[in-house]
Formats: sequence, structure tokens, C-alpha cells
Amino acid sequence: MKCLSPSLLSADFAVLGDQVALIDEAGAQYVHIDVMDGVFVPSISFGLPVIRSIRPLTERIFDVHLMITEPDRYIDEFAEAGADLLTVHAEACTHLDRTVQRIKEKGILAGVAINPATPVETLSCILGEVDMVLVMSVNPGFGGQKLIPYTVDKIRQVRSLLNRRGLKADIEVDGGVTLENVDQVTQAGANIIVAGSAVFNGDVREIGRAHV
Ligand code: DX5
Ligand code: ZN
Repeated sequence: MKCLSPSLLSADFAVLGDQVALIDEAGAQYVHIDVMDGVFVPSISFGLPVIRSIRPLTERIFDVHLMITEPDRYIDEFAEAGADLLTVHAEACTHLDRTVQRIKEKGILAGVAINPATPVETLSCILGEVDMVLVMSVNPGFGGQKLIPYTVDKIRQVRSLLNRRGLKADIEVDGGVTLENVDQVTQAGANIIVAGSAVFNGDVREIGRAHV
């Protein structure tokens, strides 16, 4: 099944609660929450207090994408704030296995993200330990960028690695996904689709109807 994970980064923060309700009503299964620290990526977005305040507004899966250095330091707090799925970047973790195990010990789902220029082979050892692989289709840090075409082939590579090893992890694609290219990424093997600007600048219901 294909799932949509609208990214709050493109939401109107002045009415964030209403935007969460909109995602909920539109039937998206996930809420994608981009946490940026201004170090791992150039931008600073928002963090724990925002997640805590929107948590009571919906039962949708909180898909928290940590674009921060040393994510280990915050696993407990993000789990307690209400993350259901916590994704860390392979590039930000010196001891990726330890980080993934710590996330799972909190009783939540663990995801690992790779940037466009990080080879899929980086995941070969950890693949059997994760619930989700996030293939970044733009360089992280900003919403509204264009999908980098070669990343579609990376989705295909991850899917075939998973199939070959009989693993059931989800593949999420994040960055520059629009109604025009969503079929391309799902055909390559992605089953969780992040969309920020395409959802909040367009019609969330349209994407929801067409592809969820
Ligand atoms: C980028 C973030 C994305 C971003 C996607 O660093 O991880 O989740 O919000 O936004 P769009 O869909 O506009 O590319
Ligand atoms: Zn993201």
C-alpha cells in the first residue's frame, strides 16, 4: 500500500493546528515532521515543543525526520514527545547501529535516511535492523526543491536489496515529489511518499485521492 506523509515544513505555522487537522481529514496516514538544527543542514526549523503541542491533535503516525548532528542525544525526548517513527541520517551517526537499536528500545519504529550523494551500499549492514529507509531525493534543508533524477534509481536499488534479502522495510522518498513524478517514484519502489510544497501549495485532497 502507498502512503502519503505530508511535510509540515511547508505548512502555515501561524495556524499549525488547523494544518494538522487538514492532513488528518484528507486521509494521509502519516505526518512528516522535519527537524533541522542549522548544523547538519543549513536551516533551523522547529523541535520538541512544537511536536509536543501538536501531538494531541491527531492519531496519525508522527514520522519525525531528524536532520541533526548527534541524534542519539535526543532519542528519548523525541520518543516521549510522540514520535512513532524516528529517522536519523546515516551521515550524522558515527555509531549507526547503536543509534538504531536505541530507537527500537524506545518501542518506536526506526528509519535511516541517506542523502542523494550517499551510496545505497552504506545501508547494506543496517538494512535488516530498520523499519524504513528514507531515500532523500533532494539535498536536505529546504522544501520546494526539484527532485534529483538519479535518486530514483537509488530507490530501485534499495527495493531490490530488500527483495533479495526477503526484508519488508518501507521505503520513503522525500523531496521534490509532485503529482507529475509521484508515479515514477512509486514504480521504483517507494511506498511512503513525503510531499511538502505539493500538498500545502496545492490541494492535499487531490494527492490523497490519486495516490494513497
Ligand atoms: C527537506 C525535507 C523535506 C521537505 C520536502 O529537507 O526533508 O521533507 O519538507 O518538501 P518538498 O516536498 O516541498 O520538497
Ligand atoms: Zn523530510
